[in-house]
Amino acid sequence: MSRSGTSTAQRFYGRWARLYDLLASTTPGLSSLRERAVSELALSPGDTVVEMGCGTGANFPHLRRRVGSEGRVVGVDFTRGMLERARDRVTREGWENVHLVQADAATFEPREEVDAVLATFVVGMLDDPYTTVGHWTNWVRPGGHLALLDAGQSANPYSWPLNQAFRGLVVASTPGSVLDFERPPWNVLDERISEARRALSERAVETRDSEHVMGIVRIAGGRLA
Ligand SMILES: C[S@@+](CC[C@H](N)C(=O)[O-])C[C@H]1O[C@@H](n2cnc3c(N)ncnc32)[C@H](O)[C@@H]1O
Repeated sequence: MSRSGTSTAQRFYGRWARLYDLLASTTPGLSSLRERAVSELALSPGDTVVEMGCGTGANFPHLRRRVGSEGRVVGVDFTRGMLERARDRVTREGWENVHLVQADAATFEPREEVDAVLATFVVGMLDDPYTTVGHWTNWVRPGGHLALLDAGQSANPYSWPLNQAFRGLVVASTPGSVLDFERPPWNVLDERISEARRALSERAVETRDSEHVMGIVRIAGGRLA
């Protein structure tokens, strides 16, 4: 995201962090999609997993269950308000192995060996998702995993009403104004998600794709060479 786009997104998510947390944690069906995405990471007890754009930490329970108390979860996000909510969650639950870092996902470099990276509803916000996902694959250990969970327009012909509702949701949840985009934001989102998935499929030796909610939600997972 460009510098001004970055601060627009940070202001947007900072302002809406409380509502986002409520939706992210209570939307019916979302928890099982999160669990499904996390299962693509093939985590074992003791592993270290980085979650990019962790937001308020809705994935942390799923990740923690897999890496156990001896593993580590590192949540990275560039919006202070979202991280504050995540920190409240971590403190409330007493999770000593969940660490939070305020950083840009495009440039973040871990200080330890990383077994897996998760990004849910994030790559559609990146300016250059192809390069950024490629950057993540550079520091995940060989044999490690990446998983991307995203929502986009469905190619299913019966999903027309769902696609219309989805477009409305994209407008409501897009930082800044729709007028900032030269093209419809839902198309921009779809293209960014495709670019992120292209980077993953080019760098992974094994990839898996699945569609959910009539094709609106897609999960891509891959194991690195
Ligand atoms: C739609 S929310 C998703 C939050 C969380 N992953 C979830 O599934 O609930 C997108 C999050 O990505 C963060 N984000 C977007 N671009 C980012 C970037 N370049 N670096 C770090 N965080 C970013 C935002 O601050 C926001 O918290």
